[in-house]
Amino acid sequence: MKDLLTPDYYRYPWAALETVKILPRGGVLVIWPDGQQLECHPLWLRENAVGPDGIDPRSKENGLDVTDMDMSTTIGSASVDAGALVVEFVPEDRRASFHPGWLRHVADELHRPFALLPEPKPWVVANLQEPPTHNGPSVLDDDRALAAWLHDLLEIGVARLTGLPCEREIVGLVGARIGALRDSNFGLTWHVSVDLDPNSTANTNSRLPAHSDLPTRETPPGFQLLHCLENDVAGGQSTMTDGLAVGQYLQTAEPDVFRWLTTLEWTFFNRDSNHDHRWTGPIIDKGDGRIPWTFRAFHPVRGFPAMASDALDDAYYSLRRFGDIANSDEFQIRYDLEPGDLIAFDNRRILHGREAFESREGIRQLRGTYLDTDEVYSRMRVLCRTLNMRPESLGFTHSKEAEDD
Ligand code: OGA
Ligand code: ZN
Repeated sequence: MKDLLTPDYYRYPWAALETVKILPRGGVLVIWPDGQQLECHPLWLRENAVGPDGIDPRSKENGLDVTDMDMSTTIGSASVDAGALVVEFVPEDRRASFHPGWLRHVADELHRPFALLPEPKPWVVANLQEPPTHNGPSVLDDDRALAAWLHDLLEIGVARLTGLPCEREIVGLVGARIGALRDSNFGLTWHVSVDLDPNSTANTNSRLPAHSDLPTRETPPGFQLLHCLENDVAGGQSTMTDGLAVGQYLQTAEPDVFRWLTTLEWTFFNRDSNHDHRWTGPIIDKGDGRIPWTFRAFHPVRGFPAMASDALDDAYYSLRRFGDIANSDEFQIRYDLEPGDLIAFDNRRILHGREAFESREGIRQLRGTYLDTDEVYSRMRVLCRTLNMRPESLGFTHSKEAEDD
């Protein structure tokens, strides 16, 4: 019984059931000894029954399309056998057993998209002075090190690697440890340096205030990796601000500003001879309430207001307040990016930037790449599964000193 298959690749503890009751509506209610319960609809149980016309044990996916389902299916009998749920589907006359640990993970809501991920912890300068820092070469070849780094990346929104070789391909290799890189008009990986004919404000020596990349896209890249290959210029310090903390502050301290930032929309537009990306959205995009917020903030590509003209005074005022707070000493951390460092951050939550630098003497060369949020989430879940860890147990040191010890 204990080797019952489940419709996934997880190994569940055997959370033996106490009882099962058939419900008047046709489903069952399963109950554990600690009182936890789960109501199971007969059609949902039927399509999750492992075996022919149910879950294919090879793919672990549902092979029963609803158009082939007997919609009159109910539960004829139900019992608990060695802790597992056993039901008889009628009129089909088919018996199926369900792993109680699998049912329990549904009852405990561990199947939800964010259940197996570290919870974002908003931060300000008073509680974070430097990005959490991890050893780069370890992340390249050790899954535990990768998991610890990704944990911090998801919780804090920014996490640094140090000690990586200063070679062009490294950023792509680190990105590939997580998942598929996200291509863009800059290429799969791209350079940040001072160009004679720059394709973006990033490729000048100008200051970049707190911003997010590619707000011109329907879904801006979820994560960004920036690897420093060379840096001996004067200036050019890196900055990071937690958009969530700025949002929280505005919500309580300046609710009008918060409302304008979340409702008044702009059309973002990238100017490029070969590309014309545009998207319209507010500066703080709360999405549909289930997904993390997306901050759309980058003045070089903020093209046109998409709001009534009498809202523009409020819109510009709110942008100004947002910029003042995001670039303030209370919210923005500042640190040196050294050759061999790689900084990863949530491009939709964290506002990154850099100071202007002197480019006539010295060279500053970074190499970057993007990944969709889905890739980072998926890798984190799979690492927790294969390492048999819960995200909470991956919590790591948040200081460079502690990491070096
Ligand atoms: C960018 C960027 C940061 C830096 O390329 O979008 O923000 O440190 N670069 O140059
Ligand atoms: Zn940027």
